[in-house]
Amino acid sequence: MNQTVTPYNDSQRSKKEQVEEMFDNIAYRYDFLNHLLSLGIDITWRKKAIKSLQSIQPKRILDVASGTGDFAMEALSLKPETIVGFDLSEGMMQYGRAKATKMGVSNIVEFVKGDSEQMPFADNSFDAITVGFGVRNFENLEAGLREMHRVLRHGGKVAILEASMPRNTIIRALYSLYFGKIVPLIGKMFSKDARAYSYLPESVKAFPEGLEFVRILENIGFRNVEYAPLTFGACAFYRMEK
Ligand SMILES: C[S@@+](CC[C@H](N)C(=O)[O-])C[C@H]1O[C@@H](n2cnc3c(N)ncnc32)[C@H](O)[C@@H]1O
Repeated sequence: MNQTVTPYNDSQRSKKEQVEEMFDNIAYRYDFLNHLLSLGIDITWRKKAIKSLQSIQPKRILDVASGTGDFAMEALSLKPETIVGFDLSEGMMQYGRAKATKMGVSNIVEFVKGDSEQMPFADNSFDAITVGFGVRNFENLEAGLREMHRVLRHGGKVAILEASMPRNTIIRALYSLYFGKIVPLIGKMFSKDARAYSYLPESVKAFPEGLEFVRILENIGFRNVEYAPLTFGACAFYRMEK
């Protein structure tokens, strides 16, 4: 399970503490490496996920594990009143806040520090929730998902993106080579954190994927849970309702 894969394999500290430290460390390179390593395709994944929320015209949106805020900024296209970017890492959100200021949307997008497994929001307080490449990092996956379910209003929608492994044998073998060997090398070169981009493929491999994750979401109480592999399955897109 994902609980056993931690950034620094440090048994003295919780996964949460290690994840926060890792993202604080790599924050200054996060956007650059994200777009480089995905060849910019991550932008199209977020756009597709945001489109799935359009039908309910959400006014209050929560972006869990918001990091540098790319998903939160993409959600601006839905013309909401408020977007809350929520994250453990101040280092990451610092870049998110700078983006919001530069785009002149600080009155709409705010960033709040905290743990997704214990969120400081009232029940049923958001119309829609997005999570981009975050759930894999939760220390207690079910606790984080239960909190998302609690703060979402009835009829509200959720869009989750997570990195995954392609199913096709040949594509999977090629992708494993890229993801398991080349990505850690480039990541180490640019981010100066030797572990961060090795933790990435390790944590993806350990994370429940496709129908296995769909079952977990259904057990939490989400309805109409749908799964779609994107770009040969390099990204998994889950959408659901409360
Ligand atoms: C890979 S980044 C994703 C950033 C952004 N959502 C995106 O689409 O690029 C994962 C983020 O999840 C955050 N995170 C991990 N565990 C968390 C938790 N328990 N509560 C809040 N944020 C968490 C990390 O701090 C990090 O910023």
